Amino acid sequence: MAGIAILGSGFIARFYADALVSHRRPDRLVSVYSRRTESAEHFAQDYQVPVWTTNMQEAISRPEVDIVCVCLPNHLHEEAVMACVQAEKAVMVTKPLGRNAQEAKRMLEAVEKAGIFHGYLEDLVYTPKSLKAQQLIAQGALGRILWAKSRETHPGPHSEWFWNKELAGGGAILDLGCHCVEIARTYIGKDIRPVEVMCWADTQVKPIDAEDHAIGLVKYANGAIGQFEVSWTFRGGLDLRDEVMGTEGTIWINNFLRTGFEVFTSGKGAGYTAEKAESESGWLFPVADEPHELGYNHMFTDMLNAWEEKRSPKETFYDGYIVNAILDAAYRSAASKQWEPVQLEIWRGKTEVEQQKELPDFDEQYFLVKEEITHYGARKLILKDKQTGEIVERVLT
Ligand SMILES: NC(=O)c1ccc[n+]([C@@H]2O[C@H](COP(=O)([O-])OP(=O)(O)OC[C@H]3O[C@@H](n4cnc5c(N)ncnc54)[C@H](O)[C@@H]3O)[C@@H](O)[C@H]2O)c1
Repeated sequence: MAGIAILGSGFIARFYADALVSHRRPDRLVSVYSRRTESAEHFAQDYQVPVWTTNMQEAISRPEVDIVCVCLPNHLHEEAVMACVQAEKAVMVTKPLGRNAQEAKRMLEAVEKAGIFHGYLEDLVYTPKSLKAQQLIAQGALGRILWAKSRETHPGPHSEWFWNKELAGGGAILDLGCHCVEIARTYIGKDIRPVEVMCWADTQVKPIDAEDHAIGLVKYANGAIGQFEVSWTFRGGLDLRDEVMGTEGTIWINNFLRTGFEVFTSGKGAGYTAEKAESESGWLFPVADEPHELGYNHMFTDMLNAWEEKRSPKETFYDGYIVNAILDAAYRSAASKQWEPVQLEIWRGKTEVEQQKELPDFDEQYFLVKEEITHYGARKLILKDKQTGEIVERVLT
């Protein structure tokens, strides 16, 4: 059982608290820090937290605190982590770990030097659908992974600091791309080195300095490609979709807009149905149990089991650092309009990875290019001669 200090009492703090203390979990929220007394007290009342304070250090260093959960705006992550290091408390940080790889690296090095538990709260690799997809891929159901695309788009974030480039560290690339990049890494293999990034970004709609829309490609050392599509200008709610393509199969995941739950209402009494839904009437797409479907339950189960068992969770500050380094390259690419290398001062995955391109054998003479049954009943084989390179066609009926 863990005593948890929660730093921040806003949007994500409440989602996390819903997951942390619901379903008769043994863990307890023992203190909450917020900038304003009223919000700290309000949060404490809602979640029965015995101690609320506007002093971050006090919330962290109380003896009943085993682990600290950082739910603060991006520019405060490093300060909060350093306070945990000073107090020698285990720490979990929401995404993105840093505003850039340098911040993330400082945090990673500090927690490792202090020998404290660290978890990176990337929930979207813990959604029930993602966990099932990861299991299928580990079993080989998709063969060799060639392409992993992740899309997170919505009409824009809910608090003022996100829209301030300095405080947030960037726009949609950092805010949403951090999810997409880690999802793709998880499918492609977290030990496969991300090599370079090509990214388009623009500020198409919002009156802000940062980008409100971006699309990027991340090339991996084994030849696989990751793709992220992010936007703060998308209309129609929160679109969270992943696609994975392998030599033996495909996975499509829709985490939010099409979950198999559709409601029509005139609007009377509808209210909130799902995060960032844009309407309260007509056909609506509710999400039945958001903390669960967004992965928070499985994420905290892994985090707190790992803490108890004195092992690393699936997502650590190291992963947060790699994600930040990839996104730094995306920002450089958006500016230079070139492929930009991912600069990793710390890399713990494979160093010698060959691009895998085994050719599908048909017989001694041919490689198999394609096999298809046509609408007129012919079974066609497209073959390539191994010696001459000639492409031939055989029709079997
Ligand atoms: N799915 C996810 O994993 C997810 C979703 C949303 C937000 N987040 C992350 O959570 C963090 C917080 O985002 P949020 O959506 O909860 O934001 P929010 O604005 O709703 O809440 C932020 C909290 O920090 C406090 N705060 C704001 N500015 C502060 C300051 N200058 N000093 C001290 N406290 C301050 C606020 O009072 C509030 O309690 C961000 O890093 C964000 O990227 C993660």
